[in-house]
This record gives sequence, structure tokens and C-alpha cells, in this order.
Amino acid sequence: MASTVCDTRVAPTDPPANLASDVVSPPPWLDPTRAPMLSVILVGQRSLAGQRRGRFVAGSGAHPARMAPDLAAHLIADYTRPGDLVFDPLAGVGTTLVEAVHLGRDAVGMELEPGWAALARANVALARRQGGTGRGHVICGDATRLPRGMPAGLRGQVALVLTSPPYGRTMHGRVDHRHGPIQRFHNTYSAHADEANLGHRRRAGLADGIAAVLAGCLPLLRPSGVMAVVARPWRRDRYLNDLPGLVIDAGLHAGLTLIDCRRAIHAALREGRLVPRHTFWQLHVAKQTRAKGIPVSLIQHDDIAVLQHLTGHDGWPR
Ligand SMILES: C[S@@+](CC[C@H](N)C(=O)[O-])C[C@H]1O[C@@H](n2cnc3c(N)ncnc32)[C@H](O)[C@@H]1O
Repeated sequence: MASTVCDTRVAPTDPPANLASDVVSPPPWLDPTRAPMLSVILVGQRSLAGQRRGRFVAGSGAHPARMAPDLAAHLIADYTRPGDLVFDPLAGVGTTLVEAVHLGRDAVGMELEPGWAALARANVALARRQGGTGRGHVICGDATRLPRGMPAGLRGQVALVLTSPPYGRTMHGRVDHRHGPIQRFHNTYSAHADEANLGHRRRAGLADGIAAVLAGCLPLLRPSGVMAVVARPWRRDRYLNDLPGLVIDAGLHAGLTLIDCRRAIHAALREGRLVPRHTFWQLHVAKQTRAKGIPVSLIQHDDIAVLQHLTGHDGWPR
């Protein structure tokens, strides 16, 4: 039976419908001389260890949930130009800032935990010593209270907010299973359980917190600035925990518009075959669930919600 319902294709030359004519001028990242962006980003061609080797100071590996450096670099290159300002409100040990500095972008990060903030500063300094021409600055503070804590001069200056929120209270961290029972380590953001850290909140509190962070970033964005939020769906037992959906809801709640959904594949493409780069836990949960007769697949990707505050003809948010 012929179906018109599914025929929603758009000619390749058409602008995306959600970048409607009410955007003041073409955003700078829509550079016609650049190859078109693909919605799928391959970030597993190099191992994570290979991506991080030599780029982070000792101790950074203790952070339980770092972004893949090649993914951060890819998104920064897509949405900014040299000299632009990138902001990560949940900076961790500073992957976003490190990659921005290497790419000649300036970067500011906010991180609640003083230990991670200190490592992020050291990582930015290392990137500078290695020849990165961008400048980096790390603020220790609570991003749910943004724009509080940010220098006033940064309002309206940020070209790209690039961040990845915590998963909430479930933290897989690292494991050692070579010598007997599974031992977990590096699986907490901090020794305290204070809910100021979004990583210590349940789902509803996490959603509110992410919405507060994104809303707090809005005054910092320049007109046409973009937010790219990286989140991975994960499974607990047989149930899928839709963190990317939660992020999108939080963004809409904060008054943003979803302008693109992209996907980062954490597998290597070798001679036409995908070679998985799963973590121990991803494989463990998938195997256990399949053993119960539920044919789940192995999660090998991050989702990236690309959000924007669409502006009126005067260039200011409506
Ligand atoms: C998923 S990690 C980000 C890791 C970072 N992308 C990296 O590669 O190092 C989230 C970070 O947000 C921090 N965080 C949680 N709640 C926060 C808050 N209210 N304000 C600022 N940072 C917060 C956590 O301590 C954690 O380091």
C-alpha cells in the first residue's frame, strides 16, 4: 500500500525546517565552504586511551565519566571558528576546554568539585604548553546557579556550550575483574552525597538540574550561539534509561529549540565492519539481559542534542 505518511524526505538543498527564516543571519557554523555536517560522527577510530594519551595530567583518569576527546574536537570544529568562545558548565577534568585550546578557541569551564576543577586547570595549562593557542579558564562553582559566578564580560559572548551531564546516581566507573569478584573503583564524582552535584540526584532532580544549567547558560550565548549536549542512553537490568530524552526535555523546558539530533558512534569502522569499543559494563548488562531472553543490542553511541535559542529580527531572544 502506498503511504504518504512516511514520505517526509527533504531535498538536500533545502534548509532544515527548524532553521526557519526567523534566524537573523546564517549562523557562522553554517559555512558554505565546509563539507556538510553528517548526523553520525565516528569517534571510535582511535581507542579512548589513544585519544587521551599525553593530553591529560596524571589523576585525570580517576574521573568516572569523561567525554571522548575526538568527539569534543569534532563538535567544536563544526560549531565554532578559531577565536570563538566555548563554555562547558559541567567541565569535569576539562576535555572540552583542552580540545578547544588545541583548536585555537578560547574556553571557559565551570565545575562544582574543587578536585576536578584543579585537574581541568592543569589540563588546560598542559594544552597551552603543547602549543594550543586558545586560552582557558576554569571556575569552581555550581552551574545550576548560572549565570552567577561567571565574569559579567562573558554575557552574550559564547559561540558554543558543549557539555555532558552526569547520569544521576548510577555510576559504573571502572572495574577490575581479573582477580576474582568484580571490584569497582573510580565510580563517584565526590566523597560527599550533596545533591548540588547533579550526579547525586534521582531522575526528576537530575532533569530539573539540567534544565537549570541550560537556562543559566542562555544569557552567556551570543545570538546564533549553539548548545551541544552529549548524553548516552544506558541500561539498568533490562530497562533503557533515556538520558538523551531527558536532556532534550530539559532543553525545551529551558526555552531552547532542538535544531539537530546527532549521534557519535563509539566503534571503529574497519574494512566495512564496525568493531565495537564497549565498556565492561555495557557488555555485562547486554549479556545478562540477553540471557533472560530479551534481545537487546550493545549500546555503542552517545546522542548529541543540538539546541538553540531562536532569535527575533533584532537579534535578541524573543
Ligand atoms: C559527565 S561529567 C563531565 C565530564 C567532562 N565532560 C570531562 O570530559 O571531563 C559531569 C561533571 O559535572 C559536574 N557537576 C555536577 N553537578 C554540577 C553542578 N551543579 N555544577 C557544576 N558542575 C557539576 C560533576 O562533578 C562532573 O565532573
